[in-house]
Amino acid sequence: MRYIIAQKNKKDSIVEKLVSLCKRKGFIFQSSEIYGGLNGCYDYGPLGVELLNNIKQSWWQFMTYREDVEGLDASILMHPKVWEASGHVENFTDPMIDCKQCKARFRVDTLGESYNEKRKKKLIISLKEKLSAIPEKMEKYNMLISEENDLNDNFELLLESEFAFELLSEAACPQCGTKNSFTEPKNFNLMFKTFLGPVEDSGNTIFLRPETAQGIFVNFLNVQQATRQKLPFGIAQIGKAFRNEINTKNFLFRTREFEQMEMQYFVKPGEDQTAYDKWKELRKSWYISLGMPEDKLRFKDHPEDKLAHYAKAAVDIEYLFPFGWGEIEGIHNRTDFDLKRHEEFSGKSMKYFDDEAKEKFVPFIIETSAGASRGFFAFLTNAYNEEEVNGETRVVMKFHPQLAPIKVAIFPLVNKDGMPEIAREIENDLRPFMKVFYDSKGAVGRRYRRMDEVGTPFCITVDTQTLEDKTVTVRERDSMEQERVKIEDLLHYLLKKLK
Ligand code: GAP
Repeated sequence: MRYIIAQKNKKDSIVEKLVSLCKRKGFIFQSSEIYGGLNGCYDYGPLGVELLNNIKQSWWQFMTYREDVEGLDASILMHPKVWEASGHVENFTDPMIDCKQCKARFRVDTLGESYNEKRKKKLIISLKEKLSAIPEKMEKYNMLISEENDLNDNFELLLESEFAFELLSEAACPQCGTKNSFTEPKNFNLMFKTFLGPVEDSGNTIFLRPETAQGIFVNFLNVQQATRQKLPFGIAQIGKAFRNEINTKNFLFRTREFEQMEMQYFVKPGEDQTAYDKWKELRKSWYISLGMPEDKLRFKDHPEDKLAHYAKAAVDIEYLFPFGWGEIEGIHNRTDFDLKRHEEFSGKSMKYFDDEAKEKFVPFIIETSAGASRGFFAFLTNAYNEEEVNGETRVVMKFHPQLAPIKVAIFPLVNKDGMPEIAREIENDLRPFMKVFYDSKGAVGRRYRRMDEVGTPFCITVDTQTLEDKTVTVRERDSMEQERVKIEDLLHYLLKKLK
């Protein structure tokens, strides 16, 4: 008998179980673990790198194996002017506050998470008392805050306002508990800096890119001219991005080094909304095609007052993680902001020549920006299942076959009677086509469990019957059903099932 005892519903423990499974099975290791680790950085182990590559390969195929999208791989280090033009030098900041006592640093806009409602209420009352003596400030306060708003929303609005410091002046530091210990908020730029060449001075400062998008913008005309693409068309790239995040959190969700899979779609102004709507749906369909249930995905529009400096409209695709909804991809209407800024800062034209209309203009851009590492975490979480089978718990990672790190495991039932030789032959035949794993150790039931835990869709067993009729048992991971397949048909059978 088999029934599901836990399917992503033990919210708190699932991330912990995943972290442990990831290390045990070689999906993810903490970076520089033997030195105590490096916060916000992770290494992808043998199975992790397979899963990550499969996600990237699936994205690449979905996004670029089409007539209207070209690929690119731009360098991580770019001319420093790029980041002035993009607005990152000026705007890519988080307001930070330090505790003078314990020196801990916090992002001001997330400090609300550290106080309960009673505390927040007290802090707001006390702020109001202070402001009531200064009519101009009180007027601003009243414009900002509505009594009808939820208390938490009001607190958040105040944290994002000029009143943050006064609001927090009587709050206790979440780390050491000291009151009246916060410094004034300061803007902290999230870009990592380094130096080009041997001289470490400000003239040689460059940045590790915080998004891959800019590499695409600056190459827009190179790609267009080389490929003779006409609008609308897109440029896609996958690559590392770096952000000196203040609060890394939830395992792989927010890290300092991560990978993005971005596509910029260039359109004629006026055709931007249609392209935005189209890509929004297409991108969601990609997650569904890889096994994410529709009810665990949703769109979340950015309110107008929270839009990034470059965006006219933006929507996140969110996945329901065990800790709540979280963004896995952003779709933005970036207008002509980026190309116009690069035109302005480089002095080079970024205009497209429409040879039918005989006119030149700067295209609008629709961006689809997915996190490969964040997607990895979502696919990993989505795959995790615990089931009870014959009184025992089986942990099974139900990856979509396209994403599974190992596609097929091959077992000889026993290590004699010629079975290992046949199993090795099958392994050699399949290896050029897919990632396979040979295992001859322990009872077959235990070997199945080991492969379930890493999400291998098929296990092949060479047994006594194989010696008689040249068939093997193929066991499917999710249903655990077995069927006999002729050895000569195995490759065709598996390739069909793994699509
Ligand atoms: N070019 C637009 C851009 O970078 P973003 O919303 O800042 O937009 C896009 O990032 C995606 O990159 C996010 O949806 C997320 O999947 C991923 N991402 C952003 N910051 C990340 C971080 N610190 N760690 C992991 N993934 C991150």
